Amino acid sequence: MSRLTPAVGAPHARILSVGSYRPERVVTNEEICRTIDSSDQWIRERSGIVSRRFAAPEESVTDMAEQAARAAIERAGIAASDVDAVLVATVSHPYQTPSSATLLAHRLGSTPAAALDISAACAGFSYGVALAADMVRGGSARHVLVVGVEKLSDFLDLHDRSTAFLFADGAGAVVIGPSDTPAIGPTVWGSDGAQWDAIVNKSSWLEYRDSDHAQWPALKMEGQPVFRWAVWAMSPVAQKALDAAGIAVGDLEAFIPHQANARIIDAMVKQLRVPDHVVVARDIVDSGNTSAASIPLAMDRMLSAGEIRSGGLALLIGFGAGLAYAAQVVELP
Ligand SMILES: CC(C)(COP(=O)(O)OP(=O)(O)OC[C@H]1O[C@@H](n2cnc3c(N)ncnc32)[C@H](O)[C@@H]1OP(=O)(O)O)[C@@H](O)C(=O)NCCC(=O)NCCS
Repeated sequence: MSRLTPAVGAPHARILSVGSYRPERVVTNEEICRTIDSSDQWIRERSGIVSRRFAAPEESVTDMAEQAARAAIERAGIAASDVDAVLVATVSHPYQTPSSATLLAHRLGSTPAAALDISAACAGFSYGVALAADMVRGGSARHVLVVGVEKLSDFLDLHDRSTAFLFADGAGAVVIGPSDTPAIGPTVWGSDGAQWDAIVNKSSWLEYRDSDHAQWPALKMEGQPVFRWAVWAMSPVAQKALDAAGIAVGDLEAFIPHQANARIIDAMVKQLRVPDHVVVARDIVDSGNTSAASIPLAMDRMLSAGEIRSGGLALLIGFGAGLAYAAQVVELP
């Protein structure tokens, strides 16, 4: 018989609140086309993007995360000191170590909260929701702050026409805490490292240090294989998340997929047979692809605009570099 005291968590977990931050500067397709051979029409038709936001040069990943986190914590009705763990999903915090999360916890007044960054690219936010829900239920934290934040403009080659029009900056945050009823469904997640180099930095830090020819580690992407994978492999994952939650697609209030590309969203809507009454996130139009930030940015906008109701069910799915993916149904805060 073990003499250890078992960890005791809450019966269930829920998203208590959401907050977001959009940088001030709007970058139009015309501006993007100053450095690549493209057009406003091509970008709109192929990606759905009309404009995106870029952070100011001095504005950091942690600065943006802080703005989104403060809004989420205030709306959760808790004090920053009630946050037991801070998870920051990002691939654009420019330090390998230390994490953005420890600095964020300090700035918010959440110290000594446990703090770590999650490297799961565009799946990062949904990975964070999965981990936070399990932490709350498992008893290692009562309130977890999950932030998805990117300053991809720092890792963008503005002369690369396969990526320059796509990626952008922003932050979104949720507080996940205890619940008496289930409000975060089972997560369906996974990875496919065989496609490790489909979306990857142009060089490693070591190559950049050691070679005069190495390029800044901006992101590069094999657009077509990623597109095919997203369309054909991710709809079944989304369906599995619905099945695991025990609901039908028609029970949803909202479908909030990662804002990768409007054509990917359209294809998923078709394959999942999402009915007209389900509101589909289309934040990509004026936000671009903000990787880990895209789902909470869209969620906050849809709730704030009154397009979707608090308490309704939303299907979330994040997918991208790794390749990595995660999906879950949640009750909206
Ligand atoms: C990037 C993406 C929009 C490119 O669209 P695409 O239809 O696959 O484009 P292709 O690479 O096949 O190129 C089609 C044509 O457009 C041209 N083209 C490529 N990029 C262009 C650009 N930025 N502007 C104008 N023309 C462009 C190509 O040269 C090609 O011309 P051709 O037919 O004369 O040879 C698309 O592949 C995509 O969305 N991929 C997934 C990206 C994504 O979601 N990534 C994030 C996942 S988290």
